[in-house]
Amino acid sequence: DWNMPDYVEEAIGKVRSLVGSDEVILGLSGGVDSSVVAALLHRAIGDQLTCVFVDNGLLRLNEATQVMETFAKNLGVKVIHVDAGEIFMGHLAGVTDPEKKRKIIGREFVEVFQSESQKLPNAKWLAQGTIYPDVIESAGAKNNKAHAIKSHHNVGGLPESLHLKLLEPLRELFKDEVRELGISLGLPHDMVYRHPFPGPGLGVRILGEVKQEYAELLRKADAIFIEELRLSGWYEKTSQAFAVFLPVKSVGVMGDGRTYDYVVALRAVQTQDFMTAHWAELPYSLLGKVSNRIINEIRGINRVVYDISGKPPATIEWE
Ligand code: XMP
Repeated sequence: DWNMPDYVEEAIGKVRSLVGSDEVILGLSGGVDSSVVAALLHRAIGDQLTCVFVDNGLLRLNEATQVMETFAKNLGVKVIHVDAGEIFMGHLAGVTDPEKKRKIIGREFVEVFQSESQKLPNAKWLAQGTIYPDVIESAGAKNNKAHAIKSHHNVGGLPESLHLKLLEPLRELFKDEVRELGISLGLPHDMVYRHPFPGPGLGVRILGEVKQEYAELLRKADAIFIEELRLSGWYEKTSQAFAVFLPVKSVGVMGDGRTYDYVVALRAVQTQDFMTAHWAELPYSLLGKVSNRIINEIRGINRVVYDISGKPPATIEWE
């Protein structure tokens, strides 16, 4: 019989007895799993925890500020905020192949994380937000593509190269339990129930070459879409929703003149396991409102399309 407050106490006790007075490093991404680990470890060992938050320049609008506010400001967690956007952009210049982009983003993350961790020579442990489905996945059961992709693309190489002991306090938990734990630890509801966001971030939502200009346009469009989904109650009814930047220009009219600007695609899906997915039948009125707002509020985008492809054969992301 599972009781959350007891579980919290038990988890805190376990961490304390394992770690003792050692220092711990955690890569905080702002996603559910690493956020819950941060909150749990902070509760258990306070300032023995240092989080490293790498802003790769491919995060959503105001995301870095929100992460720093929630953890550093409100909870008092020690967080090193690394503003590495220019480094990532530099390495991505001229690269169009999706898998190459993923590799570069993953590799640069390890680089940045590693050089930050050298500033903490007393750290003995590397904490990670590994959850039970990740454990099953690496044991070979291919039952959750999202987790397969995550372990495959994002976290490879980190523990071995750092020579730290691994601390994985969520290893026995399913996603629902992780969310419940996050709520009991006082994390904001919107953070705990956020849609999944891929490790490479906007890097795989800007088709082809990633450019600063494109990232800025996409961030604004995505924020409008998500805001309208939340306001209309559709955020909770979809499993994942986001905007995609198409580096294609089409003609439009504005006043007496013509425009020649970029296209944004909206994607919203419903799924249980992310292996298969249906496109969400969002109301036309909602789509219309989002489209009007994007086109009117963002100079540089003059056309919005809605993706009505199922998975399979399409994937959820466009890259
Ligand atoms: P696809 O696009 O393959 O995505 O239908 C299935 C789920 O996996 C997520 N995804 C990723 N997550 N790193 C991640 O951490 C990645 O490189 C990656 N690619 C796709 C995607 O957002 C969806 O939830």
